[in-house]
Order: sequence, then C-alpha cells, then structure tokens
Amino acid sequence: MTIQRVGVIGGGLMGSGIAEVCARAGSRVIVHEIHAEAADAARTRMQTSLDRAVEKGKLEQSDRDSILASVEFSTDLSDQADRQLVIEAATEDEELKKAIFADLDEVVAADSILASNTSSIPITRIAAATSRADRVVGLHFFNPVPVMGLVELVTTVMTSTETETTTMAYAESLGKTVIKARDRAGFIVNMLLVPYLIGAIRMYEAGVASREDIDAGMRLGANHPMGPLELADFVGLDTMKHIADVLFDEYKDPFYASPPLLTRMVEAGLLGRKTGKGFYEY
Ligand code: CAA
Ligand code: NAD
Repeated sequence: MTIQRVGVIGGGLMGSGIAEVCARAGSRVIVHEIHAEAADAARTRMQTSLDRAVEKGKLEQSDRDSILASVEFSTDLSDQADRQLVIEAATEDEELKKAIFADLDEVVAADSILASNTSSIPITRIAAATSRADRVVGLHFFNPVPVMGLVELVTTVMTSTETETTTMAYAESLGKTVIKARDRAGFIVNMLLVPYLIGAIRMYEAGVASREDIDAGMRLGANHPMGPLELADFVGLDTMKHIADVLFDEYKDPFYASPPLLTRMVEAGLLGRKTGKGFYEY
C-alpha cells in the first residue's frame, strides 16, 4: 500500500510537526483536534514552522502555500474515515490514547494502519483497544519533528509484517532514519534519555548546582545541543512526568520515578516552554 492520505490526532508540539513533514513529503493530511481553538493553534504552529523555513531560504513561498493547502484541520473524527494511516499524537495519557484508538477503530477503514507517537506507553496496550491489533504500531518521532532525523518503529507480537513494512517505508519516505524497538516502555531513546533528564532534575532539587551550571555542564562538557533542564522544558514537563510514570510502572524501580520537584511543577501548571515557564522563563 502506498500511503497518500494521512490523519494526525492532536495538533500540539508533535502533531503539528508530524503533519508538516507528512505534507512536505506529498501526503494529504487531516489534523484532528478537540476544539476549534486548538485546531487554530495547530495551524498557526505549522504555519510558523513553514514561514521559518521560507525565511531561511530552505523552502519556496509557493511550496509553503501548497503544503499548507494540503493540510486540513478538523474537530470531527469521522473526517478520518478515508485515511490510510492515522498517527495519534495526543497527550501522553494511556486511558486517553486507548479511548482515541477505540474511536478510530470504529471510524477509520478496516484495512488502514493506526500508529501512536507515544513517548513511552507500550503499544500492545493501545492496540488491544482496537479490533485490528495487527495494524497498530508505534511511530515515535522526535522534537522538533522537521529537524530531528529519527523515527522509532515499535512493533508488538500482534503487528503484521505488512504493517511493519508499510510504516517503515512511509517513515523513510519522510526522510527519517528508522530504528526498530521491541514493545517495552520507553523503547530505545527515552529509556536512555529520560532517566538522564530526571537525574538532572534531582541534582537541581538537591542543590548540587544552579540550573545554568547543570545545563552548561552538559552543553559544553558533553557537546549536547541543549542542557538537560532546557531540554526537559522543551519536551514539556507534563510529558516528562507522564513518561517517568510509565517507566516506573513498567520497571517498579525508584530510579525512574518522577522527582517531587517535577511533580509539583506539573501540578502548578509550570509545563516548560509551552506555558512560558518551567525551569526557565520564556
Ligand atoms: N521547528 C522547525 N525547525 C526548527 C525548530 C522548530 N521548532 N527549531 C529549530 N528549527 C531549525 C531551525 O530552522 C534551524 O534550521 P537550519 O539549520 O536549516 O537553519 C535549525 O533547526 C537550528 O535551529 P536554530 O539555529 O534556531 O537553533 P539551535 O541551533 O539552537 O537548534 C534545536 C535548535 C534543533 C532544537 C537544538 O537545540 C536541538 O537539537 N536540541 C535538542 C533537541 C532534542 O534533543 N530533541 C529530542 C527531544 S526528546 C524527544 O523528542 C522524544 C520524546 O518522546 C520526549
Ligand atoms: P502537546 O501537549 O503539545 O499536544 C497534545 C495535543 O493533543 C494538544 O493540542 C491537545 O489539544 C491534543 N489532544 C488532547 N486530547 C485529544 C483528543 N482526544 N483528540 C485530539 N487531540 C487531542 O503534547 P506533545 O508534546 O505534542 O505530545 C503529544 C504526544 O507526542 C505524546 O504522546 C508525547 O509523549 C509524544 N511525544 C512528545 C515529544 C516531545 O518532545 N514533546 C516527543 C516525542 C513524542
């Protein structure tokens, strides 16, 4: 199956980026959001990213216009009915994702593929909410999606070979390198990255160093493009906490647990860049 019609569920940080790269590769995309304001915000986010590419001379204005024209924004899930691939990028919440997949299973053509961009939740549990577990995979993109070259492909014991082959070919057609992971919480990258980020939050909470010095340490001492507290703000502290909770639930090891500071910041609505305040102010 050659994929031309793609659905994206959730047009936040990740969903708007996923919609952009799919549209740039020539797919027609429908982004689903919960209400009109969220759909407008998703469109604005995508437009800002495309405008930035035009300003930098990486994209022609006419291509920017045709890419934008190939993406629709909707609040009606039944608009996804004719999609060949739907990529879910809604909030990192297992019950929410299961409900979305159960609804998609009712709405979307039976032979279409449903993918989740979850950062950490085992795909098997999401697939089990559908009647087509053989056509459910994890397609894990990285933030910012137009810039990062990787997609993790997560298959379960139920995923068919055809689903695996089709989704891998599609992710590669977006210009991404695909790595394959077994269905374990956190997959490859977040299993390694998130404990490191949590460690930095614990170090900051313990008063070992200032936030600036922790970040400068890893930027200048390990050549990372961002320090760990900057990166946690960039990912979103709510998403960080959800990932930590899923890792802790899977491995029952306090090493993965959300540090109290992270939990308190999320409770206070300090979610990082997306709310203008996290470890830093934006
Ligand atoms: N959307 C589109 N393009 C963007 C962008 C965005 N949000 N942010 C930056 N860019 C582009 C810029 O246009 C620029 O493009 P060119 O090189 O073509 O000119 C390029 O990225 C570099 O941008 P800047 O010069 O403005 O800024 P920078 O050099 O500081 O880089 C960064 C910004 C790419 C975000 C860099 O800081 C970086 O790589 N940070 C680390 C990102 C990272 O680790 N991501 C993974 C997060 S974890 C994850 O995603 C998994 C999960 O499940 C949580
Ligand atoms: P976000 O908070 O920026 O966006 C989530 C979006 O989902 C919001 O716009 C919200 O309105 C929408 N949403 C919530 N419920 C919905 C529903 N029922 N139907 C449609 N839309 C709904 O979050 P994000 O950072 O884009 O994360 C989305 C997913 O991508 C999560 O599973 C997250 O773990 C994963 N992810 C995040 C990153 C990152 O760095 N932030 C990286 C890779 C993967």
